[in-house]
Amino acid sequence: MLKLVVGLASTILLIILILYFFFYRKRVLRNGGEDIEIMEKGHGDEEMIENLVTFQDGEDLAISDILDAPGEVIGKSNYGTLYQALLQRSNKLRLLRFLRPVCTTRGEEFDDVIQLLGCLRHPNLVSLLGFYAGPRGEKLLVHPFYRLGNLAEFIRDGSDESHKWAIIYSISIGIAKGLEHLHTGFLKPIIHGNLKSKNILLDRKYQPYVSDFGLYLLLNATASQEMLEASAAEGYKAPELIKMKDASEETDIYSLGVILLELLSGKEAVNENPTSDEDFYLPNFMRNAVLGHRIGDLFHPNILLRDSNDDQSWVTEECILKFFQLAMACCSPSPSLRPNIKQVLWKLEDIRK
Ligand SMILES: *[C@@H]1O[C@H](CO)[C@@H](O)[C@H](O)[C@H]1NC(C)=O
Repeated sequence: MLKLVVGLASTILLIILILYFFFYRKRVLRNGGEDIEIMEKGHGDEEMIENLVTFQDGEDLAISDILDAPGEVIGKSNYGTLYQALLQRSNKLRLLRFLRPVCTTRGEEFDDVIQLLGCLRHPNLVSLLGFYAGPRGEKLLVHPFYRLGNLAEFIRDGSDESHKWAIIYSISIGIAKGLEHLHTGFLKPIIHGNLKSKNILLDRKYQPYVSDFGLYLLLNATASQEMLEASAAEGYKAPELIKMKDASEETDIYSLGVILLELLSGKEAVNENPTSDEDFYLPNFMRNAVLGHRIGDLFHPNILLRDSNDDQSWVTEECILKFFQLAMACCSPSPSLRPNIKQVLWKLEDIRK
């Protein structure tokens, strides 16, 4: 009897062990001193592999938690969808970015970019907390969620806050610092590739977080070219940029200049006539103001009035003019005339002095 029980128990134990190793293989990769855990769940078929990679602050993520989270679509593009989702286990709101399988690049290159993006941390950059790849090639990126939405909405809504010089100025400095980290914080610069006010998220204190950087590196040539065309139609594309793979620090600076002008003017940078983009290197309203020497047209009429009071007393017309000149230099049609990001930051900080 005892022999039978022991025999049966050990057989069951063996089966459980085999099943365990079959379904759950846990690997720990070493990456620059950081431990990254990869859970692989096999289905006996190599094609059917799901995995979740977590990065700093994403350690509490779990596959089931991400896939079952009640979510709401907050944005759509040709290559994917953005969701706002409430993760049940941690009770945290997260931004989920779903990438359509056909639009993404494959293989090692993709994984390298994910590793790179996952290790980026900066107070003005949206971090990547985790990455999930599904059995049918679905790809999900998990980011923090920021309640105030994006900078484009903030400018368009035209609230009192969006006219306050102190806020305009601190948002500008924040975006420039985020971009500086991308351009100069690594051996090789990381090109944003799709900088626009929709890709700047704001928290409750109006601190900006640059989002979507390097995303084009995850997309196939067709999809990333479509991304470039969308940014051209919205007025952010530098005139010399034809192919997305040629995106550079200079083309990022151009887009930054357009955002600075948007902040200053309270107007969207929509290019009303993107077809004739040889002449129209600036969104129309900006170009008209510049050609007509009506620089005053660019300022939001409330900025100067509001700044006469208390905490913003340091602002003068000269500050605003310097800010405008800096933005215009960033939007120079010739890439070599644009300042680099360090110079942009110096000049912005100089305005305050
Ligand atoms: C690249 O993405 C597009 C969608 O933007 C898709 O239609 C196309 O099939 C993809 N091309 C390749 C080679 O995978």
